[in-house]
Parts: sequence; structure tokens; C-alpha cells
Amino acid sequence: MYFAEDFIEKVRTQSDIISIISEYTNLVQKGRSYIGRCPFHNEKTPSFSVSEEQQMYHCFGCGVGGNVITFMMEKENLSFMETIEELATKANIPLEYDNNKKYNNREVLLKKDIIFELYKKAARFYYYNLTRNAPDYVKEYLKNRELTEQTIRLFGLGFSPNSYTALYKYLSKEDVTDEILIESGLCIRALNGKIYDRFINRLMFPIISPTKKVVAFGGRVFGDEKPKYLNSAENPIFHKSNTLYGLNLAKNANHDYYILVEGYMDVVAMHINGFTNTVASLGTAFTDGQAKLLKRYTKDIVILYDNDNAGQKATLKAIKILKDNDFSVKVLELKNAKDPDEFLTNFGSHKLKNMLLNAKSDVWYQISKIQNLYNLNNLPEKVKFLEQTAEIIANLSSSIEQQLYIDEISLRFTIDKKAIESEIKKKIINTKDNKIVYENHSKKVDLEVNLLSVLYHNPNLYNEISQYLFPELFTKGIKQNIAINLFNKESIDTKNYYSIEEQKIISSIIINENMQNIEFPVVYKMIKQFTKGLNLSYYKKLIYSDINPEKFNNLIKRKFETQKLNIIPKNG
Ligand code: CTP
Ligand code: MN
Repeated sequence: MYFAEDFIEKVRTQSDIISIISEYTNLVQKGRSYIGRCPFHNEKTPSFSVSEEQQMYHCFGCGVGGNVITFMMEKENLSFMETIEELATKANIPLEYDNNKKYNNREVLLKKDIIFELYKKAARFYYYNLTRNAPDYVKEYLKNRELTEQTIRLFGLGFSPNSYTALYKYLSKEDVTDEILIESGLCIRALNGKIYDRFINRLMFPIISPTKKVVAFGGRVFGDEKPKYLNSAENPIFHKSNTLYGLNLAKNANHDYYILVEGYMDVVAMHINGFTNTVASLGTAFTDGQAKLLKRYTKDIVILYDNDNAGQKATLKAIKILKDNDFSVKVLELKNAKDPDEFLTNFGSHKLKNMLLNAKSDVWYQISKIQNLYNLNNLPEKVKFLEQTAEIIANLSSSIEQQLYIDEISLRFTIDKKAIESEIKKKIINTKDNKIVYENHSKKVDLEVNLLSVLYHNPNLYNEISQYLFPELFTKGIKQNIAINLFNKESIDTKNYYSIEEQKIISSIIINENMQNIEFPVVYKMIKQFTKGLNLSYYKKLIYSDINPEKFNNLIKRKFETQKLNIIPKNG
């Protein structure tokens, strides 16, 4: 089923981008735009900008951008069609399907939909291979890990056969290109150019989104080979740092709290033992994106990570991220078992249930970790202990909570309350001074996009710029199309571009305050850098691929003009 372009456009224009984005981050009006903290990356100072006039957003920190459609697609991980349905419903527009309509760029537009479809087919294929076609060693493995038929069905577990191309052959029967199979992260292209399956001879755990779609796999080997687990590569429908394993099941019941574990098998074991509020962070590195995702379902978390060193370190990091996102956090430490899966096998669910009732608060967990570092019978060490403990208490936002911990610490460690309080005061002053947040602005500068943005915002520079640049120099596709628009002094037809990549480019062109009121000398440097990257053979290719004689001559002329560029002195 498809929607007609007119309908899509109607939904886009009738959706209120400001109110939709406001559901995810707090926006404040500033001049002609709205500014807030980016909902796509972790930041303390706002660099996310939404233009009401343009109905677009752009983050100067991480570079995301687009319109209301791409926002929903990215934030909710929906397919294009689902996004339109969702937005239409929000805007009270009755759905009108149009199955005859052919899209001019359906391939790009529906890329996400195609990848969703591939994952669905792959999941069925793996499931079939596990339930109907599994070799004896696989059946043996299932038995050893107590993975029953029922569990396999509940989690949709699968088996990727011991063959280089089983899935590739299966999916090739569909009408899909090799490129999209590679982009999906299900297949890889080897150095010899041939295409192979990514997952070979592994027990497959489909990772299912809260909207019940398979977005990735984790695959485990049956023996001791390395790597033990392999995940799908990042792709348009899977961003590891925004995904939690088990959330599709956990969200079904209205749990008052969630349990956070490390691994796939931990989630499986927890669920079949009745702890259906368990999710895993896909390895030890819990991220801010995962916290933001969880926040939609709960405010209370119990961290139940592995009992090894890595697990403890990861617990401390997860506490920090969860607290930054205003969760109330408890920690359950396992004894005599390395992870929840092993604990349940050895001691059963009843024992775990009791332990959960007594899980430590995040503060006590952190204090106990500090306590392990020092001998409290040694005075200088006790001072260090107090300093670090004070730091934790200083970071609590509620003064009532602070007071309660102060009382309790004073009692437990026989430290004078006044001493604790004054130590905390010092820390509070310090942390206020040091609240400079270093963010990783790893945004790559795209010269082409910046130059287009210059043209867009500074029509007065058109004559100067067009001496050096012409649309054919820009990468074929959206960038060149926009260049053609701008060089022809036309407006950009934003609605022709649906895909996330395209919308990101458009928003960086339109919402790019750095390029407004720019002086030509700066632009000149950009042009110079841009044309430096284009070598002579590139120009030749351009010229010979063009058969229009008039254009041909023009290009030759411009070729020399652009070459002129290289003899202008550096400081020119
Ligand atoms: N993990 C990973 N890649 C690895 C190892 C681990 O992505 N090479 C992730 C997986 O999500 C895994 C989790 O980290 O589930 C925890 O790893 P580990 O404790 O080693 O695995 P278990 O879940 O205990 O797996 P098993 O019980 O099957 O050994
Ligand atoms: Mn395990």
C-alpha cells in the first residue's frame, strides 16, 4: 500500500513540527527559530534548531536534520509508510491510500521499508532453520541452555546455517539489489567482490523494536570461537545505541520498574523466570539514547549487570547516564554467579525475587564501591573516602535526599555530620565552577553542502561564485539538483526529497546560520578547497559525458576559469 505524493505533502504541511518535536525536547523560541537540546545526541547546551517557517530542524552539534517526516522516522524508528500514518492520525487527516501511484524515487524513499522487509524475511528464514532444519549440535546446544520450543517461539530465535551464502541465496529471490543487502547489514562484500552472509553458524537473537519489527540480529557461536556474539552492522533501521533488547516484550505489561541486564541470554532467562520487565543494553555500554528510550516506559530502574569487573564499571557508568536522565536507580549485585542467567539456573527465581526487594540505591552502591578502595581504620584513607562520598551526595538534586544520606553516613561510618556537610558544600561550589561540558562534535564538514548553503543565504554573491562553480561540479543526485536550482535562482523544492539522508542535506543548507552574511574572501577559500579535491580527469569525464555542444563549450571555458584559481596566491 502506498500514499500519493499529494497526500504525503498534505500530511507534512498540516503537521506541526514544533509541537511534535516538543514532545521529545524542550524548545524555546529565539528569534525566528526554536532552540533546544538535541533529542538525537547527549548535550548540555542547546544546539538543536527548529525553523517554524521552513518546517525543518537541524542540529549544529551532531549534524542531524530534516523535516517532520524524517524526525518521526528516526525518533520512533518507523518505516516511511508508518510515519505518514502516524502523522496523519495526529493531525486528524483521514488516511487515503493510492496503490496506483508510482513514485519517481521510490527506491530511495522506501529504503527503510525495504530493509525492514528484509529483516522480517531473514528472521523467518533463521527461525525455520532452527525449528525445522537444525543439525544435532544445535539441538544439543538448545537442550544444554534449556531453550525450549516455547522460549524459541517467544523470542523468535533462529539458526544461521553453516554456509557462506544461505541467506544471500534466499533473499536474492526477492527483487532486491546486492547493494541494499549489504547496506542492511545482513550480507557483506568480501575483498574478492563476492557477497557472503554476515551470520554464519550462529544462534540468532532477533532484536525487535517496540513497534514489533525485527531491526537487527545478535548471533552467538555454538562453541568458543571469537567473537562470541556478533550484531548486525549499523544500518538505516538499526542504531545500536538507541536500541534495547527485550523492550518489545517488556513494554507489554505496565511494570512500575524495569530491570537492566547485559546480555541476550540474561533477558531470555529473566523473562522465562517471570521477570518480564527485563531489557538488555546489548553489551556493557549503556548509552544516553537507550536511557531516553527507556524513559518513555518507566522512571525506575534496577541495574543487574554481570558480577565481574567490567560489569561493575559498566554499572557505575549506567548509573551516571540514568541519573542524568532523571531516573531513580537501584543496583542489584549478584553473588556466586557471573550473570543473571547463571544465577537463575543455580538458585532459581524465588531467590532473585527476594534479592530484588533489597536492591541497593544507586548512592549506596557507589559508596560501597568507594568503601572497597580504602581502609577506613586508617585516618588519611578515611578522609579520602569522605571526600569522594561527599561528591556523590553533592550531586543529588534533592536536599531532603541529601540530608537523609548525611544522617545515615554519619551513623554508619561514625563521621560527624558537620564534617560531611562542609565537605559537601565544597564539592557543590566546585562542581558549579566546573560545569563545562565537553561534547564530541564529530560532525564532518561537507564542503559541498556548505557552499550550497552560502549560495542559498547569499544570493548577492551569486555572480562571484558562478565564476568558479557550476552545478555539474556537485555530486550527482540531490546535491547537484539543488545546485541546479540555486544556480538557476530557483527555490529548492524540498518536498521532492523524502529520504533521511536527503532531508539532512536540505536542512543543513537551509538552517545553517554560519553561512548567513558570509564575506566573499571566506567563500573563496571554501571554493578553493572544494575545487582542489576535483582533479583534471574528473573535469574530462564531465566534459566527455556531456553531448550538448553549447554546454560542452561552456564547461571547457569554466574548466580554465577554475584552474585559474590555483595560480591565485594563497593570501589572495
Ligand atoms: N556482547 C557482544 N559481543 C561480544 C560479547 C558480548 O555484543 N563479543 C554483548 C552481547 O549482547 C552479550 C552481552 O554483551 O549478550 C554480554 O556478554 P557476555 O556476558 O559475554 O555474554 P552472555 O550474555 O553471558 O552470553 P552467554 O551466556 O551466551 O555466554
Ligand atoms: Mn551468560
